[in-house]
Amino acid sequence: MQDLSTLLQADDHVEDLGKLSRRSFFQRSFAALTAGSLLPRVLANQAPIEAGDSAYWRWVADQFLLKPGLTYMNTGTRGPSPRSVYLAQLDAIRQSNEDRLSYARYVHNAEFKDGLREKLATFLGCSVDELAITNNTTEGMAIGTNGPDLNPGDEIIFTNHDHSSGGQPVNLRCARQGTNAVVVDLSDKKFHPPKSPDDIIKAFDAAITPRTKLISFCHINYTDGCVLPVKEICELARSKGILTLVDGAHPPGMLNMNIADLGCDMYAGACHKWMLAGQLTGFFYVRQDLQEQIWPSIYSGPVQGKNMYGAIDDAKRGTTAQRYETHGSSNYAAAKSIDAALDFHNSIGSSAIEARDRHMATTAKQALGNMSGVEVFASEDPRLCAGLVSFKVKGVDTKELSAMLWERHRIYIREVVHEEIDWDANRMSLHIMVNDNQLDRTLGAIEEIAKERRA
Ligand SMILES: Cc1ncc(COP(=O)(O)O)c(C=O)c1O
Repeated sequence: MQDLSTLLQADDHVEDLGKLSRRSFFQRSFAALTAGSLLPRVLANQAPIEAGDSAYWRWVADQFLLKPGLTYMNTGTRGPSPRSVYLAQLDAIRQSNEDRLSYARYVHNAEFKDGLREKLATFLGCSVDELAITNNTTEGMAIGTNGPDLNPGDEIIFTNHDHSSGGQPVNLRCARQGTNAVVVDLSDKKFHPPKSPDDIIKAFDAAITPRTKLISFCHINYTDGCVLPVKEICELARSKGILTLVDGAHPPGMLNMNIADLGCDMYAGACHKWMLAGQLTGFFYVRQDLQEQIWPSIYSGPVQGKNMYGAIDDAKRGTTAQRYETHGSSNYAAAKSIDAALDFHNSIGSSAIEARDRHMATTAKQALGNMSGVEVFASEDPRLCAGLVSFKVKGVDTKELSAMLWERHRIYIREVVHEEIDWDANRMSLHIMVNDNQLDRTLGAIEEIAKERRA
């Protein structure tokens, strides 16, 4: 086997990925296997990456461990990890089993955790003291919903296109404490596809009353893939003294995002979906000046600056957003996977990834839109759409379509069905483990099924 420095030197001179030989591809794959994301970073620094550069993105897709012949389009539920992330986790598990003493030191290694939080904060566009590392989006949504003090009769808004991870904590709080849930109805046909951000903002505005204290909503809906006008909704809420909690299960890793720019008060996100870290990885952001008002739900750190015995304890875990992650032992391998996933993303670049996902989504929307008997729910307006594409083939049950694509072609997409809001669609997650051939094949397979049904 060649050593890593030889491979890095060899790759240092590559300028045109499109002209790469099989050998270079092998070298890159090998190096990514051993060095995580070093190689893409070298490449990213050398030439701008085009969203339509099939060869480059094929190489990126080849970094995943997915079985040959399998097309995976459900990152929106769970993202598979690239090799470097997988190996980082394996290594952490190995360390923890080989040497318990070092493991204990790693697990409680504040330096590693601080560095990780810093790196994640830079990636997400917020300050390190506003960020907690959590297990998933649901955890952050629950903390955010339960965090502020509210009185019976106060109102919390959510939408009927939210995930249960956002809606059910609100319903639970209302059942327990007598606050009232107010649901914004996004089921109207005018939202599918949405025509303008204004319609959505108006729907939120109409739901606000003098009793509204909190608005909880998705950055990107998991049903129709709509990107909501977060900034405008947060501005509206702030102008009326209302807190905002954003469900960010999908954008991190898909969009080149900046939480501070969104202007929200709280943001709960996943690292295990589009960010491609291991399972049980997420984060929760709370604006610095609000943290005293947002109570943690599960907590074992200092209370009012004191430890359990009443001695002064002003450690950061009690005075920053770390209060939302201070609850017992954590998973070192999961944290390592976030670290490696950040390296992987940074080596390609968030804006290149966003452009790639959007490029695939546009290709899919155009092709599906041109097929007879196929309805596309995703907007053409880039402000209102990104990497999730929802659609329906008329006359084909959505579960049946997912099953046919799997059984005939080993293509994995999902359906999202909620009769209560008249929602029944198939959904593709278009992310960087999908290569152009796979996308073309999927679109061809859907067209074939639509034709069969028309015949
Ligand atoms: C919009 C949305 N919110 C929350 C969740 C739950 O995410 P997690 O598994 O990170 O808790 C999902 C899962 O698919 C989702 O689509």
